[in-house]
Amino acid sequence: MLFGRKKKEPPRLCVAAVIPAAGSSQRMGGENKLLAELGGVPILIHTLAAFEQCEMVDYIVLVAREEDILVYQDLYKKYGLSKKCILVRGGETRAHSVLEGVRACLDGTDIVAIHDAARPLVTDDVICGAIRAAAEFGGAAPVVPMKDSVKRVSDGKIEADVPRDAIAAVQTPQCFVRGRIEGALVKALRRCLPLTDDCAAFEAAGLPVRATQGDYRNIKITTPEDLLVAEAFLQGRDV
Ligand code: CTP
Ligand code: MG
Repeated sequence: MLFGRKKKEPPRLCVAAVIPAAGSSQRMGGENKLLAELGGVPILIHTLAAFEQCEMVDYIVLVAREEDILVYQDLYKKYGLSKKCILVRGGETRAHSVLEGVRACLDGTDIVAIHDAARPLVTDDVICGAIRAAAEFGGAAPVVPMKDSVKRVSDGKIEADVPRDAIAAVQTPQCFVRGRIEGALVKALRRCLPLTDDCAAFEAAGLPVRATQGDYRNIKITTPEDLLVAEAFLQGRDV
């Protein structure tokens, strides 16, 4: 420790968590899956609590369907969440909802961390790792190695091996410099690109996305059996 000479701190970034929660849960049967409970608490609240507790995140933008806005507002209060939260109406597709969320970010926001509301078990390490990498490289997303062998299949015929070390499963939060992701999303939507995630828009704009450490427990709740798996992970967390 040197006395009288302070180590220069990197400038504090302003980080927004944009949480798309405006889907229609078709693969779950149509009832809003984000209100289903894990450990007695709605999925949405698990997700919001992860960002409430993350010290790198300054505020939250929650994207909701019109009919869910009041429900989400009430839940936010009921569970004692207190970080600043901006609620906005979502769009027709996930990408439209994300764009609405990014547009609602406050002036001066440096980084947006875009996270599926349907991934309630995200950890602080995964969030912070992706935010730090986005600040350094412009864009970042957590990935995990594939466990299964992967094959290319055409017309019911297995054609070739896809080398496992060349692929990974991508998760959220996908984090970006705020100014760059807004333009990338607008361009991709204008070109009607089929976007499965936000990285795809960033990549299509020719911008690099850094891979960071994901977590096998950071699953997306998509179909009913995912609830069982998530419940097991949640119980395992506490022991
Ligand atoms: N999402 C959104 N706006 C949309 C579609 C999806 O905000 N128009 C959100 C969902 O609420 C979810 C996340 O994007 O948190 C990932 O989407 P997905 O898991 O596909 O959820 P749904 O679209 O609701 O489910 P499904 O595709 O089965 O209808
Ligand atoms: Mg969907």
